[in-house]
Amino acid sequence: MEKNIPKFDVLPQHIGFIMDGNGRWAKMRGLERSAGHKEGAMTFRRIGEYCADVGIKYMTFYAFSTENWNRPKSEVLALMKLFKEYLKEGDERIAENDIRQMRLKFIGERDNLPKDLLRLIEKAEKESAKYDKVTVNIALNYGGRAEITHAVKEISEKVKAGELSVDEITEELVGNHIYTAGQPDPDIIVRPSGEYRLSNFMTWQSAYSEFWYSDILWPDFTEEDVNKILEDYQKRNRRFGGV
Ligand code: IPE
Ligand code: IPE
Ligand code: MG
Repeated sequence: MEKNIPKFDVLPQHIGFIMDGNGRWAKMRGLERSAGHKEGAMTFRRIGEYCADVGIKYMTFYAFSTENWNRPKSEVLALMKLFKEYLKEGDERIAENDIRQMRLKFIGERDNLPKDLLRLIEKAEKESAKYDKVTVNIALNYGGRAEITHAVKEISEKVKAGELSVDEITEELVGNHIYTAGQPDPDIIVRPSGEYRLSNFMTWQSAYSEFWYSDILWPDFTEEDVNKILEDYQKRNRRFGGV
């Protein structure tokens, strides 16, 4: 389907999406929560592709937080199954990534992920590593605090080994030890579903991010909503502490 893509004067380089509201979307329809996650996964693909077509170079989608393990076991299992299905749809997904030259990168803790999922993640990252036009980060088993803790540990190890002195620890160095090292920080973070919080999303990277909130539930999120975000972004006056 040919989409009408508007032109924008200023585009964010990086957009973060907190994909929230799947459960409520399903409940409203008398469905299981997992049906909402399934629909949400389709929205992720549709919105990711549209953002790439508009010219967004970096996107981060929050798929599963370090706190989401607290959900009922059946829901966690359904989510893990969904992630595997997405990654397994090999040829279709590879073609999709190829057309738009999209590189997939998973950010988050890997230690406690199911082994079969981890293998699929590594495979998808390896296969798409050759693309450099668009970077799609999927935050899975991700927590902003866990990410910073991980960076602190890595840096401490280097200090302990004598590779680094304490004076050399700068903001830039810390930034080089977080999962999105080398990428621009998100210019704008989008949270649908009527919640006004970050829920441990991109804690380090969001220091100067703009926010965009809406009552739309993630499965209902459309390309038109992306246009609204981009239009709104034109009007933001980002000062970064200046005047
Ligand atoms: C977000 O939707 C998806 C994940 C956290 C995995 P929710 O499942 O949180 O949906 P609500 O907030 O209950 O509606
Ligand atoms: C944030 O949504 C995590 C993801 C979207 C993956 P939650 O639904 O888990 O956040 P809270 O619990 O409402 O803060
Ligand atoms: Mg939620």
